[in-house]
Amino acid sequence: MLNWDDPLEKITPSAPAKEHFSEMPGVAVDREAEPAVDSVKRLVGGSDLTANIAPIKYQWAWDAYIKSQRNFWLPTEIGMGEDLMALKQLNDNERHTFFTTFATLTTADALHQRNLALAVYERISAPEVGMAIIAQMHQETIHSMSYQHIIESLNFDEDEIYLLYQRVPQIRAKFEYSNRMTRGLQGQTADLKEYVRGLFFYYMIFEGVWFMANFCPIFSMQRRRLMVRTGEQLQYIARDESGHVGFGRALIWALWQEAPETRMEESQAHALMREAMALEADYAQYTVKPMLGYDLELHQRHARYLANRRLQDMGFAPIYPESEVACLPWWEEQIGFRKEKNFFETRVTEYQTGGALSWD
Ligand SMILES: [Fe+2]
Ligand SMILES: [Fe+2]
Repeated sequence: MLNWDDPLEKITPSAPAKEHFSEMPGVAVDREAEPAVDSVKRLVGGSDLTANIAPIKYQWAWDAYIKSQRNFWLPTEIGMGEDLMALKQLNDNERHTFFTTFATLTTADALHQRNLALAVYERISAPEVGMAIIAQMHQETIHSMSYQHIIESLNFDEDEIYLLYQRVPQIRAKFEYSNRMTRGLQGQTADLKEYVRGLFFYYMIFEGVWFMANFCPIFSMQRRRLMVRTGEQLQYIARDESGHVGFGRALIWALWQEAPETRMEESQAHALMREAMALEADYAQYTVKPMLGYDLELHQRHARYLANRRLQDMGFAPIYPESEVACLPWWEEQIGFRKEKNFFETRVTEYQTGGALSWD
């Protein structure tokens, strides 16, 4: 029986020699008459050849799947002891910002798992794309595992963390809006245009702007050597999330190409983004209190920068002035694991089997 300690060569069967193929019984007598898998495979509403992983038609999805496997990590490998000491050093503003931000992230990831499993995956008929979505689902469970590891290690009150969204209207409003926006993802017969609009909201706004912006208050603490281990956990999560955003972008573009009638109007994308950013502003007003090196203004500017980037990713004009440029000099470094890893003396590099992810 195989176990974790077996060398990879044992787990991965070596490819059979070519000549074995010629010994297979000739079932398909008239290959010319069969439709090529490539031509009947579609992202949505494809033929029932949903078990034909190859020939791979959507290479970007296969690449995303492979990359997510290479980026596998375990939250429990990161010891949290240092943060127990740091918690005692936080001032009131830092404590408020940390807890409210952290609590919001826990709810967001739990929601992602359900969204992907019950809505996004259901409609997809190309198996290599489905595999990438299943891999994403698994990564989202790792993120929930990470939060639970932090909660248990730092003796947080579980109810206070997991139920905060119900008690704070500014947090609840974001999740209620999210539930409304992703309703269109559900059901095989739902309007395809609604499905793609739901994907745009889910991948480009929820994950690409809200989630990415919400890491930053805690990252700013980490840069000051406060809550360093939590920050490190969030760096792994952010690396996964940047992969999700890249995958979502490719999926939406591919759907627009296959079903041009699902293409969104720029005005619709702008309206969605503006609504989401208004909710983000209310939310940030509640969560982000002035801290050394980070405040509400900086947070908002960064969120606007992300909003512009996500719109441009999809071929739309930015909605904020051109002067809205990256204002957090450490942002790319935090999510890309570039430089300074030795500074934190952590084990991060041990997990860098997939290399750094980028937005482009
Ligand atoms: Fe996540
Ligand atoms: Fe995600």
